[in-house]
Amino acid sequence: MLIGLQNLTFEFGSRLIVEDATWHINPGERIGLIGYNGTGKSTLLKVLVGEYLPAKGSVEKGRDTTIGYLHQDLLSFDTNDSILEVAMGAFEKVKQLEKEIELLGMELEETSDEKLLHDYSDKLHELEMLGGYTIHHRTEEVLQGLGFANEDLTRPYKEFSGGWRMRVLLAKMILQQPDVLLMDEPTNHLDLPSIEWLEKYLRHYQGSVVIVSHDKFFLNRMVNKIVELYQQQLHIYIGDYEYYEREKEVRVELQQKAYENQQDYIRQQEKFVERFKAKASKAAAAQSVMKRLDKIERIENAEIERPNIKINFQVDKQPGRIICELKHISKSFGNIEILRNTSIEIDRGDKIALIGANGKGKSTLLRIVAGTEKYEGLRNWGHNVEESFYAQHQLEALNVNNTILDEMKECGSKKTELELRSLMGCFLFSGDDTDKRIKVLSGGEKARVALAKVIVSKSNFLLLDEPTNHLDMHSVELLADALNKYEGSFLLVSHDRFFISKTANKIWEIVDHEIKEFKGTYLEWVEWKERMAKHQSSKKKEQDNLAKAQEQVNKAQELVAAPVTKNNPNAPINIEREHKKELQKLQRQFQKVEEDIARFNLQKTQIESDLSNPDSYKEANKFSQLEKSYSAVQEQLKTANAQYEQLFEKIMELENNL
Ligand SMILES: Nc1ncnc2c1ncn2[C@@H]1O[C@H](COP(=O)(O)OP(=O)(O)OP(=O)(O)O)[C@@H](O)[C@H]1O
Ligand SMILES: [Mg+2]
Repeated sequence: MLIGLQNLTFEFGSRLIVEDATWHINPGERIGLIGYNGTGKSTLLKVLVGEYLPAKGSVEKGRDTTIGYLHQDLLSFDTNDSILEVAMGAFEKVKQLEKEIELLGMELEETSDEKLLHDYSDKLHELEMLGGYTIHHRTEEVLQGLGFANEDLTRPYKEFSGGWRMRVLLAKMILQQPDVLLMDEPTNHLDLPSIEWLEKYLRHYQGSVVIVSHDKFFLNRMVNKIVELYQQQLHIYIGDYEYYEREKEVRVELQQKAYENQQDYIRQQEKFVERFKAKASKAAAAQSVMKRLDKIERIENAEIERPNIKINFQVDKQPGRIICELKHISKSFGNIEILRNTSIEIDRGDKIALIGANGKGKSTLLRIVAGTEKYEGLRNWGHNVEESFYAQHQLEALNVNNTILDEMKECGSKKTELELRSLMGCFLFSGDDTDKRIKVLSGGEKARVALAKVIVSKSNFLLLDEPTNHLDMHSVELLADALNKYEGSFLLVSHDRFFISKTANKIWEIVDHEIKEFKGTYLEWVEWKERMAKHQSSKKKEQDNLAKAQEQVNKAQELVAAPVTKNNPNAPINIEREHKKELQKLQRQFQKVEEDIARFNLQKTQIESDLSNPDSYKEANKFSQLEKSYSAVQEQLKTANAQYEQLFEKIMELENNL
């Protein structure tokens, strides 16, 4: 074992984070640490690295285990040092040694003590052994590998955007080559190419890795073990994320079944007790049943507890047809050109996703629209537009010393304290929670405060820069739903493919310093891109007449098929018709089974009430008859329920294919 927790309990005051947890991290393991926002994942990492001390139990660590830790709010780290210096922080030991050598050298200039001289040469030797003379070179290499240009290396760290800062800290960790990497939401600040880079790097990484992440795709590719923090317990799943999803469902179902069976049993026994406790002849039996019932270890109801935030964006005033006009906009940072003489318009009803790599200027463009960044050209607001800006550094812009309630009061809405408290309730901050200081909030909790601030403004135009960062998967879905219902317009930046595809009706991309607009959803955009790519490559083969003819036929077919089979251009029409027929058939069956189930349930309750009627026990015959029909109806119910499920699944499948 490299490091681990042994029967560990951790709490913040009265709030229990994890109870009696045991978890060993072994060499070569790739672990995804998951859980809803605020359950304590970041806290657990801090306990592992010794930043927090447990209330009970212990953290056990191999004597020589080295740990690299990438924490969640990396933007709070700021320095004027160059990125080369920051990354070279990896060589603390070497640096320390260099300092000592320098001091010794100075002393030696004054005295010529034999022992000092020995020390001096020992230390020089140690420095060589540690590779001290090559650290500069090695750091440069890694940074360049991560995409930094040579002239960037001496620029101050604070000048870089989130994604690039992340890479500097990553470089530092890579150079340290620790046995265990602990990474808290590493993909939050990275664009797709960098995420892919990180995936490749981690795949070849020899040590163990623990990744906290809300990114399904990433987890699926990176980990072979999932540790879920849920209801103050660690649940371990040996497999990737997909395995976890399946297995969790099975576990929950099993527990739910066990729970229901036990409840049935308890109810039966209770009925028995109820029926017989007053009868002298049976009272003793009833007594012992009662005792047995008391002793049963009760199985918990397995229904999954989910944090359901209630997001409801509202609009105060309706704006005019045009929200914002950008005309001949140019923008550069020094000699880095971002936009060149580009024009575009945002109309009422537009739900725009701005996509593309880090550093292309997505956040800059958002700031230009919001008016917090200088630019050349014209920007005209439409009539009655009220905008609200959720900036990328929004979480860092929260005043960490404020309580949640103060923070909400300061954003200038006319809401009373009571109204604000009830709003915060929708974001899962109930009662005393609103007196918590921002400082102690988890990443996801801070994101919820920032979102609440956007909501309180009731604007009709939202600018959202990576709003899904830090949010757990369930909350991302709820946010997407809320944006779908929103009556206003928005422009958002996101790297989350799922989220974009659920929210946007237009895609913007910055290509060659211009804003390119695609009118359609993300999936349509992807298809279009693919078609364009195909088109390009087929152009090259133009000499091949045969192929060309075939292509034309294909195209013609596509055109014919397109309007009908919008979602699946390759499916011929008659298959679809078949599907529809089949679907209708299944739906009829489904309805019938539903009616059967209702009928059986009715029969069952009828028999149950007969059974509980003491008269039934008078005639032996009647009683056994009842018992028989009871088990018969239960059997029927079981079969019907199974059919019901099967039909349901088939229908879902067909509907998805249509
Ligand atoms: N110093 C502290 N004092 C009191 N409560 C704290 C402190 N630090 C964190 N908390 C609370 O403990 C809980 C767990 O926080 P933590 O940051 O570990 O969550 P998390 O699982 O990493 O969540 P996220 O997915 O949002 O990053 C949160 O409710 C947070 O508000
Ligand atoms: Mg966290």
